[in-house]
Amino acid sequence: MSEAQPDYDIEAWRRQIPLLASYIPMNNCSQAPQTDATRAAAERYLDSWNGSGMDWDTWMTEVALAKAEFAKLIGASTSDVAVFSSVSEAASSVASAIDWSGSRKNIVVSEAEFPTVAHVWLAQRRRGACVAWAPVSGGAIDPAVYDTLLDDRTALVSACHGYYMNGFLQDTARIVTRARETGALSFVDAYQTLGTTPIDVRALGVDFLASGNLKFLMGIPGIAFLYVRPEIVESLQPSVTGWFGRANPFAFEAKSLDWSPAASRFDTGTPPVINAYIARAGMEIINTVGPAKIRAWLEVLGQRLIDGGRAHGLTLHGTDDMRHKTSTTAFVVRDSHAIESAMRDRGIIASARGEVIRLAPHFYTTINDVDQALDALAQTVHSS
Ligand SMILES: Cc1ncc(COP(=O)(O)O)c(C=O)c1O
Repeated sequence: MSEAQPDYDIEAWRRQIPLLASYIPMNNCSQAPQTDATRAAAERYLDSWNGSGMDWDTWMTEVALAKAEFAKLIGASTSDVAVFSSVSEAASSVASAIDWSGSRKNIVVSEAEFPTVAHVWLAQRRRGACVAWAPVSGGAIDPAVYDTLLDDRTALVSACHGYYMNGFLQDTARIVTRARETGALSFVDAYQTLGTTPIDVRALGVDFLASGNLKFLMGIPGIAFLYVRPEIVESLQPSVTGWFGRANPFAFEAKSLDWSPAASRFDTGTPPVINAYIARAGMEIINTVGPAKIRAWLEVLGQRLIDGGRAHGLTLHGTDDMRHKTSTTAFVVRDSHAIESAMRDRGIIASARGEVIRLAPHFYTTINDVDQALDALAQTVHSS
């Protein structure tokens, strides 16, 4: 029987990833590899800077095109997207737009959040907010927890779409719906899922959705995007702001805080231009392959990781139900950083986090890559 294949020309995409000549990258939950397209995008900016000295019109157009590419990925309009340098900055900007002094003071935060997001909410306690935790038990949060945690004192619920630690795929639609019912705002961190599974913010009804670019969006550090639901945007005035948040940034009017009517009111200072070139190119790849096709292929690879891990006697962290898994499969190990380093010596780039080693394939990953990564992990674990 011939081996399963994705519904796109995987070999053509692999030829555009030079790193594959020397490594098997299974660290997409941390940093995706460079492609010919993302490298060319960086060079386009460098050429423009070198050739023209400065070209702000082209550079700002490129930032707008990066926002447009992000909007396409999530089913939004370009005007619903703001740009930041990190998810932390995006969350801080959201937090700064919320008044914590009224009867709605509570922020419901999950223990599965990437720490930076939780830190931003914790920092709001000085401004009057109270933080309530949704606990992780057995590698996941019981969705019913949100039914009791959210009530008419909740200002905001913060839920990651996929857990960074073990790749649990959370039912954010249920959480967002519960937030709506109680009149709370919802913030979803989709950094661990965007690019690997279809997301439609309009169908989801979420108020804020954020993601950076270096993981499954095939980009680099230093740029992140925030979706703001257009129906609420004009009611929000973030105090984390700057001249790009104005209706007309180029009016150069220091004494007037004229808010942009769109999500760009969340923009702050001069955007990260070279990052926007690269981010757009990376997201174009994802939009071209298509998140639904990528998800279908990652379900095949994820099942292979679960079954292969079991056959090798490895200990899975979290669920073995592919319907509730992101690309990431995590195995419990003794010294994850030593294992990561030993695997690199064997040609596999894995990602260590605390007590686990994470294997996160992407659209360009083959079944053979997965098998080699599992062999290397099992050999390393069993010989340590
Ligand atoms: C789910 C998730 N959110 C946020 C971050 C970090 O966000 P930033 O460094 O852009 O603030 C990460 C990892 O880097 C992550 O996995």
